[in-house]
Amino acid sequence: MSAAGAMEIEDVAALRTEAVRILRENDRGGYTIPTDGLYPFQWNWDSAFCAMGIATYDVDRAWSELDYLYQGQWESGLLPHIVFHRPVDSYYPGPDVWGTAHTPPTSGISQPPLTATATLRILDRAAAAHANMSDAKDRAAALYPKILALHDWWERERDPDRTGIVAVLHPWETGADNSPVWDGPLKTTPATKTQFQRRDVALVDATMRPRQWEYERYIHLVELYRSLGWDGGKMWRETPFKVADVAMNAILMRDERDLLTLAESFGTPAERARLEERAERRQSGLDRLWHAQDGFYYSRDLVADEAIRVASHAGFLPLWGGVRNPDRAKQLADRLTQWLTLCRYGAPTMSPRDPEFDQKRYWRGPVWAIINFMLGHGAAEQGFADLADRLREDTRALMLRSGFCEYYDPLTGEGLGGGAFSWTAAAGLAWALD
Ligand code: DGY
Repeated sequence: MSAAGAMEIEDVAALRTEAVRILRENDRGGYTIPTDGLYPFQWNWDSAFCAMGIATYDVDRAWSELDYLYQGQWESGLLPHIVFHRPVDSYYPGPDVWGTAHTPPTSGISQPPLTATATLRILDRAAAAHANMSDAKDRAAALYPKILALHDWWERERDPDRTGIVAVLHPWETGADNSPVWDGPLKTTPATKTQFQRRDVALVDATMRPRQWEYERYIHLVELYRSLGWDGGKMWRETPFKVADVAMNAILMRDERDLLTLAESFGTPAERARLEERAERRQSGLDRLWHAQDGFYYSRDLVADEAIRVASHAGFLPLWGGVRNPDRAKQLADRLTQWLTLCRYGAPTMSPRDPEFDQKRYWRGPVWAIINFMLGHGAAEQGFADLADRLREDTRALMLRSGFCEYYDPLTGEGLGGGAFSWTAAAGLAWALD
């Protein structure tokens, strides 16, 4: 082995140690915060990734991550995007702004569902570690009905007409808060009239965060839904922001399939039949988000009733969700490969050729390790091994260069946003550095 090769192995081992250290440092006694200061509570999809990372070294603690997250689940099945387990004042909007009626306090919207996927992966890690499988199965069995209730909630409240496509009612629900895909729908969303003090821009350079005009609309939507008592039916009818996000639908599709796998061990025959039927409906729904002329998957604005023809990372995520048409999968892989030729480190969340590309601003260009995790797995599963390798190598190179930041500049590799970031460390442990 060359000296450089040996050095990389040593560096990767040191990085893994650092990733575990970050996850332990961000542990608040059973659940993990994304990063100190900027995000001081438990976030929904962050925790699903954390659980997958933690399972590489502590299966018992990985279960606890999901158990704590589900402490926030509402009776309706909604799994909120933030659980405010204990008060911290470095974040806006806190529980008083959300004004929901749950103990522990929570937000009132959700986030991309990955808990069935995480449960399956923890089970795999438990088996690989020769852990006590009867305990692992008990933990998964206890989670199964809660995950099922979450999926039922997505269908009942976010696809009431059973089209097979769910909608989000807030950009925060997508996790990709300020993606250029939301620019159009947000322009027809009113701004809040309330004066508020953002905390994020005191902690992170404002050039890396959403802009003020977007925040004013984020807060308007929270205030509107609070005024509707967080009633799902009223929110659906009265919202000015209703978007079928392709990333959400692809991630839900994947989680639904993983839920079906869990149902084989923990569900009833009737539940399995219902899930199979729903998975088929969701798959057809995802198929309908394909734009044949542009050869890409787009989100759909359900208020304007039109496709949002803005190409972002989201359009590639059906690779993770499952693309059943091989020609479409190939078009996605070719296009993503082409995007990668435009930057030093992929995958950017917007093409560097797009006029909206902004290499430092959150979801308008930067690379996110968890997106690469999903795209890398999706590419490998759909038979694009070279693309999968490139995504993994780029992610590893970013971590070697800049550690475990929230996101990275695709042109320079500079680390951006919050530092010592949990889900980046987890994506390293579970995939890029594995
Ligand atoms: C934030 O506060 O930036 C979050 O993305 C909302 O969940």
